[in-house]
Amino acid sequence: MPTVYLETFGCQMNELDSQLVSSRLRTLGYTFTPQADSADVVLYNTCSVREHAEQKVWSRLGELALRKARQPGLVVGVLGCMAEREGEGLIRRMPVVDVMAGPAELDRLPELLDNALKTRRALLAESATQHLLMTPEGIRPDLTLLRSAGQVALHGDTGRRSSTLAAAADQLELLDLSRSTSPDEHSGSAYVRITRGCNKFCTYCVVPFTRGAEVHRPPEHIIDECKRLADAGVIEITLLGQTVNHYRFEHDAATIVDGVVQPQKGRAYVHRRGVHEDPYKREKGERVTTFADLLYRIHEEVPSVRRLRFVTSYPRSFGDDVLQVIRDCPRICRYLHVPAQSGSDRMLRAMNRGYSVGEYLEFIDRARQHLHQPEIGRPLTIAGDIIVGFPGETEEDFLATADLLRRVRYKNCFIFKYSPRPGTVAHERLTDDVPDPVKRRRNYELLTLQAQISDEVSREYIGSELDVFVQSLSKRQSRRQRQTGALAATEHRSLIRLTVSAAGTHARPGDQSPHDDQGCCATHEKIEHTGPSEPEDHTLPVQMSARSDGDLIVFIDAPPGTPPDALIGSIVRVRVESASGLALHARPV
Ligand code: 5AD
Ligand code: SF4
Repeated sequence: MPTVYLETFGCQMNELDSQLVSSRLRTLGYTFTPQADSADVVLYNTCSVREHAEQKVWSRLGELALRKARQPGLVVGVLGCMAEREGEGLIRRMPVVDVMAGPAELDRLPELLDNALKTRRALLAESATQHLLMTPEGIRPDLTLLRSAGQVALHGDTGRRSSTLAAAADQLELLDLSRSTSPDEHSGSAYVRITRGCNKFCTYCVVPFTRGAEVHRPPEHIIDECKRLADAGVIEITLLGQTVNHYRFEHDAATIVDGVVQPQKGRAYVHRRGVHEDPYKREKGERVTTFADLLYRIHEEVPSVRRLRFVTSYPRSFGDDVLQVIRDCPRICRYLHVPAQSGSDRMLRAMNRGYSVGEYLEFIDRARQHLHQPEIGRPLTIAGDIIVGFPGETEEDFLATADLLRRVRYKNCFIFKYSPRPGTVAHERLTDDVPDPVKRRRNYELLTLQAQISDEVSREYIGSELDVFVQSLSKRQSRRQRQTGALAATEHRSLIRLTVSAAGTHARPGDQSPHDDQGCCATHEKIEHTGPSEPEDHTLPVQMSARSDGDLIVFIDAPPGTPPDALIGSIVRVRVESASGLALHARPV
């Protein structure tokens, strides 16, 4: 069977899609390799949120075009948002691409890939016998004939799933439902999707166009998936959605096809200003599962999941009911990723965010009142997203955003330069009038400010005890082992995982575009775990990278005699000894 190299750009939603696709392909007999060069099939699962992420894919495809001239049997596939956004134009521009599948068509990838492989093989055989070229080196097949054969593009139909839900089985749902829970696919931690798509139409954002309208998965499917993952040893689950707190499933309106309850379109909800008990007013007798209900049920029904997290939250319509559930349930992490995007009301209006700075801050205060309890070892940490240089952003608007950062004191905040995206309202109607040097300066200034704040926030943890989830060897440790040639099984495992995940980076002053390959709203958790560099010393203990329940990165040394493999995927109690930037250094207690 062919070997596949799959690289993922962007957000966690893409990472999950890649996992589902690769687990489906594995069951069909494909094998995966972390080396693009040795693969028969190269797949890119792409992100369109910012132009920079797309440029990376274009340049990778350019390189593959050269390779395909040498290896004509190579099959190249573009998956995800770029496939959706660019359509056939992508194949016209890059004839090297054989297969394209937008996010709503991923369930059909095995069939497409199979066709593409067969077509290429058949054409190769035919060329070898019928289309021969005389060359100075002798007679060889004319491979130019193969260049654009058998290409298939599936895209442009993000609505397919939602508009036909009542009539047809939602195949994407089946992709989620049939996921493999094999232990070598998760290392103790897994994503579970609760909604797909987005209805918010922020004026800068391409996600509603590439991922389509918001669709909510039936709660039974979500809970079942969590149970299956837990049975397979997963102890940390991150629920994914573009705006998770808008989750709502109305049981009386559920459609069933072939015995399977179908996902449901997101309903327009009435936002009642100043009302926080349950932003979705529940009529008497209505059978509804809200986000608060869903969290509570997973917590109660899947107790072996020791950490339940969710991203991304929308700052509006986040009810006290959800905060209350988080407070009452010890295994739900006190971590919120809740993008503000700007600290200026004028900008928020232009972005169509639907809240004011005052309302955002009111939410942050309310969340802290409910959830920030450092005295019992349960602080709340908050992460955010900011866009600088949105059309019309003045220095005054920018300073207001800096004030917001000071006021909120995020644990970390992702700061992006505005990137105009074709098809969005901002691209079509607003002039991208903030010059790039100004965008870069604002980006740099906010990164510097946030680095200071992150540093202060981290230092507050020195001396305290935390439970941390051990994820992998630290990058420093991996480097060390690579240098000594000791590629332990542990590292090999994390290498494979990295291949199917985004390579995000920390926000560090000096990086001009620190997160350009981060994706849409459900994003950002992927962080390069880089400890401070120091001269190699092979007598040093093995350094592991872990995460606190508030998503702080914690470096620990494996206790002598404990194989690192045994630690990965477990929760360890540690005492924090020092902090630098976003990273804590701790010792197991
Ligand atoms: N330009 C810059 N940043 C963007 N984001 C989304 N669209 C754009 C864009 N066009 C950012 C937002 C969002 C995060 C995932 O990406 O901050 O929360
Ligand atoms: Fe939806 Fe987030 Fe994009 Fe707004 S920024 S449209 S909420 S995905």
